[in-house]
This record gives sequence, structure tokens and C-alpha cells, in this order.
Amino acid sequence: MEKRDLIYEGKAKKVYLTDDPALVIVDYKDDATAFNGLKKGTIAGKGVINNRMSNLLMQRLEASGIPTHYVEELSDRETLVRRVSVVPLEVIIRNIAAGSFSKRYGVKEGVVFDQPTIEFSYKNDDLGDPLMNEYHALALHLASADEIALIKRYAFMVNEVLSAYWKERGVILVDFKLEFGRLSDGTIALADEISPDTCRFWDAQTSEKLDKDRFRRDLGGVEDAYSEMMRRLT
Ligand code: TMP
Repeated sequence: MEKRDLIYEGKAKKVYLTDDPALVIVDYKDDATAFNGLKKGTIAGKGVINNRMSNLLMQRLEASGIPTHYVEELSDRETLVRRVSVVPLEVIIRNIAAGSFSKRYGVKEGVVFDQPTIEFSYKNDDLGDPLMNEYHALALHLASADEIALIKRYAFMVNEVLSAYWKERGVILVDFKLEFGRLSDGTIALADEISPDTCRFWDAQTSEKLDKDRFRRDLGGVEDAYSEMMRRLT
């Protein structure tokens, strides 16, 4: 597979064309940002960990019937994925109150929900990824009603699979963010990444935070948290 032009550079990843128009290469960086890019830093080794974790989890999800963009890990930081046109929605599932949910509704972090919640943000950096409901997404033609229904179904399936997976490894899956895309035939597939950048992971025994909140909130031990999650994975 030949790596060609850089077509996109985001906060944490670069995307390259290949000689196959249906496939692109994702290259994971150690760069970290928070608060829509206001806070910037580096988490040494993060790219390697996120690449490996995301790939292992995507393969697990694929085996559970959720289509993903994953094709093949090429190196420590590079993965071959199907090219998608991104549905500009951030899909957030929560099992426990934390982060912006706690802030918005004045609920203490750690309150366990009777059932998982789902919410959408409009993936738009200029607007700061505003929260939106599915009627807003329909009004703006971000996705069709059928696509939104499927995305919701997949998102809750991901939660079932990953919550059980991490529970076996002594980790509570508090919440996470997913992004979906359309393959050339219109099939909805899970895209982007699943990693400590995009999930909240708490140690099941101590409730210690093992994710990017250590960076966002200056808690220290950022690299150690990522390494510990990598250790739990394998
Ligand atoms: P929040 O509580 O800040 O809304 O975050 C919910 C989840 O989504 C959390 O696991 C972190 C993840 N997330 C991202 O992956 N990207 C983002 O830009 C934000 C704000 C959150």
C-alpha cells in the first residue's frame, strides 16, 4: 500500500491518501488538545497507544456486527482504514455523570444512570461543537432519519460490547464519543478512534481516572494513565 498526499491534519491525527481511492492511512500523533484547541500539549507515546487500542476495539466491534472503517494496522502509529465521508455529529454515550453533563445539569460526577444516555454535538470547531438534538441534525441535513436511527443503534451496541470488555479488565467505561462515516455505497461505519482521548475510563477499584481528563484537568500522571490502559488492554 503506497502512502501518498496528506489530505487532512487534525488535532491528534493525520490522514493520507493511498493508491487505492477507497482506502486512506491514519497516522496518530502525540499532540493533545482540550477545550476546542485552547489547551495544547504533548502526551509522549499517546499516538502508539491510541492506534493500537482503537484497532483492537474496532476489531472487537466488527466481530459484534458493527461496521467499522478499520482495515489493517500498518505500524506503531499508522493504520489503513476505509475512506468515509464523515457524518458531522459527535455521538456521546454516558453511563455515569461526568464532564460537561455534570457541569450542565449540576450533577455530581459519579452518579450512575439507570440506563445509558445519548447526545449529539454538531462537529464544527468554529462553533465549538454545540450540543444538538436529532431534529436539529435533520433540519441541517447532517444525516437522514434512517442514518440517525442506525447510528443510535450502533452507539448503544458499542456501549454494551465495550462496557463488558473493560469490566473484565477492571475498568469502568464512564462515557465516550463516537464518530460515524459513510462508505462509498452509503453504508454507515464507525470511524475516528476509540481511545483514552475519546473515552472516560475509571479504575473499577479506586475510581482513579485513566484517560485524557488527567491532561484536561492538569491532574498529572497523564502518560502513566495511558500506559496503564494499554497494559489492561493486552
Ligand atoms: P464531555 O463530558 O466533555 O462532553 O465529554 C464526553 C465524552 O466525550 C468524554 O469521554 C470525552 C469525549 N470527548 C471527545 O472525545 N472529544 C471532545 O471534543 C469532547 C468535548 C469530549
